Amino acid sequence: MGRMSAAQERYLHAMMPKIGVPFRPEPLDLTALFGRAAPKLLEIGCGMGETTARIAALHPENDYLGVEVHTPGVGSLCKRIAEMGLENLRIIQHDAVEVVRAMLPEETLCGIHIFFPDPWQKKRHHKRRLIQPPFVAELTRRLQPGGYLHCATDWQDYAEQMLAVLSNEPELMNTATNYAPRPEYRPLTKFEQRGRRLGHDVWDLVFVRR
Ligand SMILES: C[S@@+](CC[C@H](N)C(=O)[O-])C[C@H]1O[C@@H](n2cnc3c(N)ncnc32)[C@H](O)[C@@H]1O
Repeated sequence: MGRMSAAQERYLHAMMPKIGVPFRPEPLDLTALFGRAAPKLLEIGCGMGETTARIAALHPENDYLGVEVHTPGVGSLCKRIAEMGLENLRIIQHDAVEVVRAMLPEETLCGIHIFFPDPWQKKRHHKRRLIQPPFVAELTRRLQPGGYLHCATDWQDYAEQMLAVLSNEPELMNTATNYAPRPEYRPLTKFEQRGRRLGHDVWDLVFVRR
């Protein structure tokens, strides 16, 4: 992800007043936000929004809330939302940890997607990784019983950390023995296809709330 293109900037300014949700430290009424009582899903770290937009387009029966901090990424997702005419996707441009803690009421989500979170490769930086026990406990409480938390990564040692952290959360249950097959709703991105051709693995983890 690099600098902002002129198109991203244009779409950011045109779309965020319509589909952006400002960060406010108060509970968000998701039903009111989308204007209907459809299943609600959260995606943390949408990046350039390729996967986010494709999933929302394929599942008009669900509502999606994407959280991303990086402005060119938000601009890129805004462009996709406009071009694809998506009506079931909203964006919060803010730190996801604060959004979850301050804005998302408990037991409101039927799914949470965290695809390829920043790996923070150096050992001394592992503490910056998103998937840590306290945050996973917070995420789990936002899920309805039976709702799922789906993480994917292409870093083996982060996959192992995810597996340990999610397995140790008492309210979560693994849907697979360890790693799960890629669910069909998660499309293969160009980046991932290229990685697979080079022999790089990807690990999916899908856990459900008890
Ligand atoms: C490696 S990228 C992956 C993007 C995308 N999910 C994909 O699969 O292509 C990780 C993304 O998470 C975002 N991110 C990292 N920490 C975040 C946080 N605390 N809150 C919101 N977004 C975050 C980064 O800006 C970046 O866009």
